[in-house]
Amino acid sequence: MAKIVVTGAAGFIGSHTTDQLLAAGHTVVGADNFRTGRRANLTAALRSGAFALHEIDVAQPGALDALVAAERPDAIIHLAALVSVQESIADPGLNFLLNVQATQLVAEAARKHRVGRVVFASSAAIYGDTTDLPITENTEKKPISPYGAAKLASEALLLGHGAAYGFTVRCQRYFNVFGPRQDPASPYSGVISIFDRRYREGKAVTIYGDGRQTRDFIAVRDVARANVIAATRPGLVSGVANICTGRETSLLDVAAVFARLYPGAAAPVHAPARTGDILRSLGTAARAKAELDFTANTSVADGLAELAAATAA
Ligand SMILES: NC(=O)c1ccc[n+]([C@@H]2O[C@H](COP(=O)([O-])OP(=O)(O)OC[C@H]3O[C@@H](n4cnc5c(N)ncnc54)[C@H](O)[C@@H]3O)[C@@H](O)[C@H]2O)c1
Repeated sequence: MAKIVVTGAAGFIGSHTTDQLLAAGHTVVGADNFRTGRRANLTAALRSGAFALHEIDVAQPGALDALVAAERPDAIIHLAALVSVQESIADPGLNFLLNVQATQLVAEAARKHRVGRVVFASSAAIYGDTTDLPITENTEKKPISPYGAAKLASEALLLGHGAAYGFTVRCQRYFNVFGPRQDPASPYSGVISIFDRRYREGKAVTIYGDGRQTRDFIAVRDVARANVIAATRPGLVSGVANICTGRETSLLDVAAVFARLYPGAAAPVHAPARTGDILRSLGTAARAKAELDFTANTSVADGLAELAAATAA
């Protein structure tokens, strides 16, 4: 069994990753400053003797280093970040601090304390608004935000350090992640968490444009499983992989599933398309299958049912 440091453990993806690591028998050291995460996401984990939570700012020099020096983990899963594209555009300096400087500190801590593996939360945002679909790992990288640029820079920083100092780096390019514990209160939240809240409150959702725009929506339980594999499976080599389903789902499809989950709900309201909205997104999942033996196996319908049940609880 391994000992894993999870940065951003109190967040949406971090808390699910923590839960699955613990369920698999691993020891987890969580690091979070609660910028966007919540202690309540870790209610179950905090009951485990194999979990410890440290309130630290990973972008602050020395903080993660001290934790890694003390804990000597087998791997670091680095999820802590400024997660909003819009916020990165409003404050690019903060984006650099939280999404590039923090990654450099992760790489440094891994080198200094001989951590064998680093798993990084990258993003489909590194591909920008490409219309060249489906997106493979070789699709041209054209970030269109400071956030996307920082994710791409972070991949390069980690892979370069891993190659120079002999640790394994897995960059996980998540597509549109959805599921329980995603914060619907943020104006920048994923569309599914916003839809879920509106349906639950009996309010009509707004669909911008005709609703035929698509995303490769992946359930957080699958993303967490991909993280567990990347951090713990023996023999992996460094690399990057899309973490996606390889299937396109339109907003109309999502609304139709919600309409079944919330019978009697108000019909969606249509509003003019927003400028800059990406019309279609779809990744290829073949490399994650080949390199991690990972395949997303939760359908959007099952994932939405799980989300609705969790938020109703
Ligand atoms: N949700 C998605 O669809 C998606 C898609 C692609 C990539 N990602 C990436 O996955 C990771 C997790 O995202 P999420 O959706 O779970 O968001 P989240 O906001 O729920 O999680 C981020 C966590 O990091 C913590 N954090 C932020 N800055 C920190 C710092 N300086 N020190 C310590 N903790 C800090 C936050 O408090 C939060 O708990 C991020 O790196 C994000 O960029 C998410």
